[in-house]
Amino acid sequence: MARRPLIAGNWKMNGLKADGLALAEGIAAKLKAAPPPADLLVCPPATLIDALCRAVAGSGLAVGGQDCHAANSGAHTGDIAAPMLKDLGASHVIVGHSERRTDHRETNAQVQAKATAAHAAGLVAIICIGETEAERDAGRTLAVVGEQFDGSLPAGATADNTVIAYEPVWAIGTGRTPTTPEVVEVHAAIRALAGKRLGAAGADRLRILYGGSMKPSNAKELLALADVDGGLIGGASLKVEDFWAIAQSCP
Ligand code: 13P
Repeated sequence: MARRPLIAGNWKMNGLKADGLALAEGIAAKLKAAPPPADLLVCPPATLIDALCRAVAGSGLAVGGQDCHAANSGAHTGDIAAPMLKDLGASHVIVGHSERRTDHRETNAQVQAKATAAHAAGLVAIICIGETEAERDAGRTLAVVGEQFDGSLPAGATADNTVIAYEPVWAIGTGRTPTTPEVVEVHAAIRALAGKRLGAAGADRLRILYGGSMKPSNAKELLALADVDGGLIGGASLKVEDFWAIAQSCP
């Protein structure tokens, strides 16, 4: 079945108020003028979610968080709960990004708990999985991705409340990408695993994004691959023209 692509920008820890607003408003203006063949989402730092949700309301540009806590409230200094993101107007939240798995030692069980909290709050969870370079070199890519998928996907996951992002850690911010057969192999493996959890129809509807050094020059090739249903974009999501060019590259 035809899955509508999702092009999602992960701004990471970038953007003060003026830059972030200009970037989101620039994308929203283009979106209103000529909708691309994809759903568009930006995930700014949490500090900008409120302002961006107000600024782009009604444009069709969705706004998401980059992380949430597994609990809805409580003594967790510095953390942000899923209902807080929802309260501001966010529709999505990224969980289990490799930078959080590395910087904050997040485990599959924690990512799964965060995704559960996201679902309970009515957010779409974008669950990130991907192997390191050492794991790929050791021939363990499919094993690692499979473990992360099984361990991070919550029981209540559906094709409507969940998106998977395959992000090879060694391709993030490096300018390197896997070969197209390598991308196809992993995406097909993820869809096969999804079949066991969501059933054949659910797996068929599940969106599986590719992330890692996607940019205007390689987006068309990557987005045309079987089982690639969009992109999770870091660096190239910080410029209106680059993000827009990627959105326009969807088949
Ligand atoms: P880059 O596009 O900068 O490689 O980052 C990818 C990423 O980590 C998106 O979540």
